[in-house]
Amino acid sequence: MMTPSSTTTTPMRVLLTGHLGYIGAVLAPVLVDRGHEVVGLDTDYYRGCDLVPFRSPVPALEQDLRDVRAADLEGFDAIIHLAALSNDPIGNISARWTAEINDEATVRLAELARAAGTRRFLFSSSCIMYGLAATDAPVDETSPLAPQTEYARSKVRTEEALHRLADERFSPTSLRNGTIYGASPRMRFDTVLNSLVGAAVATGRVVVNSDGKPWRPVVNVEDVAQGFAAVLEAPVELVYDRAFNLGADHVNRRVIDLAEAAVAAVPGAKLDVRAEPDADQRTYRTSFARFSAAFPGVTFRTPEDGALGLARDLVDAGVDRDAFESERFIRLRRLRRLLDQGRLSRDDLRWTEAREASDAHAGEPAGEPA
Ligand SMILES: NC(=O)c1ccc[n+]([C@@H]2O[C@H](COP(=O)([O-])OP(=O)(O)OC[C@H]3O[C@@H](n4cnc5c(N)ncnc54)[C@H](O)[C@@H]3O)[C@@H](O)[C@H]2O)c1
Repeated sequence: MMTPSSTTTTPMRVLLTGHLGYIGAVLAPVLVDRGHEVVGLDTDYYRGCDLVPFRSPVPALEQDLRDVRAADLEGFDAIIHLAALSNDPIGNISARWTAEINDEATVRLAELARAAGTRRFLFSSSCIMYGLAATDAPVDETSPLAPQTEYARSKVRTEEALHRLADERFSPTSLRNGTIYGASPRMRFDTVLNSLVGAAVATGRVVVNSDGKPWRPVVNVEDVAQGFAAVLEAPVELVYDRAFNLGADHVNRRVIDLAEAAVAAVPGAKLDVRAEPDADQRTYRTSFARFSAAFPGVTFRTPEDGALGLARDLVDAGVDRDAFESERFIRLRRLRRLLDQGRLSRDDLRWTEAREASDAHAGEPAGEPA
């Protein structure tokens, strides 16, 4: 899954929050490979939800982001902050949890980091904050923000707060991701291309409920990891107090093109376009010109190539219908299951059990059907 790379950049001591999630499980080894000393921080909501046997290569602070103390943050050159409730449906379970984790705890982390002398803070943001475009015209970093959901609003609030904290000692950078796809040890099938390719591999059928016309920027997770590493290692003046849409212009596709790429990646797979009137018509195209100009060395594979690679990785991992439809790879369903089981508290979405006890559940079978 990984492409090793090397660099002559001065190694940094990096705190990587969310290192046990979908992106973090890919990014942590990339940073280690580039010579950085990485410490993770993650409450591990998705423990046991592994696509392939998984053990993070970095030591970690096993704690909730909301409990970080000043003493935890001493001696870091940079923080890459991924930990969050990571999509719209989860954000809709509870506006309070989303605010507490995604923005309040993030702003507190940034304030503590700034006080501790951490120079760089990379925030994993999202293009979802541009809202639902009425036209096909691409949005760039200067476009008005029109967040439609709690999750999207949390990203806007956090970016604004980070901007207020920026000064000569503290350099925040917001990386606005499109919809990410590609294999990760901590797989998600709740992003668009992962879902389409997963369906093609596991069921031989790709269903598109809409007419497939909406646009999506889809970015491969390994390329995203290279992008984060490049921003981490960039001269501070290039990234200081800036937002970047993370990707390249050639990753924008209509959903129907993504579905066709998924079908083409799996011999024998069939496409079923239903064009239902109420289907999701959100559309957004993104300009990545700012990132491409600043980081011409970071390349992004086409969604067609990425779909082929992903299909191969899913076949190698033995993904079948049970795995594809399992709660383990759908973030919202996993959290709901943990809440229903009482393993996460309905008061504050914290674990109600000790780490050792929860590890015993790691191999439990899949949850309710999709
Ligand atoms: N995957 C995408 O397509 C995508 C797109 C845009 C933005 N992002 C952003 O990138 C980041 C990472 O996304 P991902 O896909 O890896 O998500 P993920 O859900 O797979 O991983 C998030 C990680 O954060 C951890 N976490 C959540 N709340 C925590 C808390 N209170 N304390 C400690 N750890 C906590 C979880 O345990 C999990 O390991 C998120 O901020 C997300 O909003 C992701």
